Amino acid sequence: MTAGFTAALLQAQTRISIHMEHRLPQTDLLHQAMLYALRGGKMLRGFLVLESARLHDVPETAALEAALAIECIHAYSLVHDDLPCMDDDDLRRGRPTLHRKWDEATAVLAGDSLQTQAFELLAREEVGPHAISLIRTMAEAAGKDGMVSGQMLDIAAETAEAPLTLEQITTLQARKTGCLIEWSACAGARLAGADPAPLRHYAQALGLAFQIADDILDIEGDAATVGKAVRKDEDAGKATFVSLLRLEGAKRRAQELADQACAALAPYGAAGDTLKDAARFVISRDS
Ligand code: IPE
Ligand code: IPE
Ligand code: MG
Ligand code: MG
Ligand code: MG
Repeated sequence: MTAGFTAALLQAQTRISIHMEHRLPQTDLLHQAMLYALRGGKMLRGFLVLESARLHDVPETAALEAALAIECIHAYSLVHDDLPCMDDDDLRRGRPTLHRKWDEATAVLAGDSLQTQAFELLAREEVGPHAISLIRTMAEAAGKDGMVSGQMLDIAAETAEAPLTLEQITTLQARKTGCLIEWSACAGARLAGADPAPLRHYAQALGLAFQIADDILDIEGDAATVGKAVRKDEDAGKATFVSLLRLEGAKRRAQELADQACAALAPYGAAGDTLKDAARFVISRDS
């Protein structure tokens, strides 16, 4: 990781965390559970929002609402992903999963309120004149043709009679992981009313590379560093690039996708360097 990217990620984490404390006071159990779900992650999606906003000279007051909003959707997706009826996980970000810390009802409800919180944030006046475009595209990215649809395909693949094809796995992963990453990277352009196409091309490749790296970490990572249980996907029958291409093929694919992501940033010149570093980070991370 370059020093520039490390500093930019840390700065994004700090700014988003401060904003989070401001918007979500720790009043009752539901708020505590929401904050528990929001804390401790890499905040890569929030970072992508702030970085794409910087590229388009968007005021940080607007960008922070969008960055926190996508972190709320991401946190909700993880809380529900970990439930016994989904991936049944006990460890997340090195701590007990939310339903282990409290109970399943609290986890379902904290996830529900994180989802609505995201839209409340995007509807704030600080977001500015293009809020409706962010709200609509977030609903699309998170919902029935986006993340939730990808999660449905992921669960269905566990009991499918035949292994999924490369095309089917690509669709599954683009939806369950890619859509939220794409929304994040495009958010800065949308906040500015600019064309998000170059950032979309970047993020489509980045999102796939990100999930391949996650699937590789399930095999090669150790739980203490990754912060979640590893070596679970194969036994659970998960359809991943690794299950189809084996480790070496998946690593090659991740590298190709990271290269594609960097190439898509050409229109931004040197201003896109931090996002290029983010693509390299995504495929080389150990957590
Ligand atoms: C994990 O995402 C879930 C996937 C989509 C693979 P991250 O690896 O970004 O999780 P945190 O937020 O940093 O914990
Ligand atoms: C999770 O994918 C994707 C979403 C939560 C939308 P995984 O199930 O592979 O994520 P981890 O490995 O539990 O973080
Ligand atoms: Mg899952
Ligand atoms: Mg999971
Ligand atoms: Mg995983």
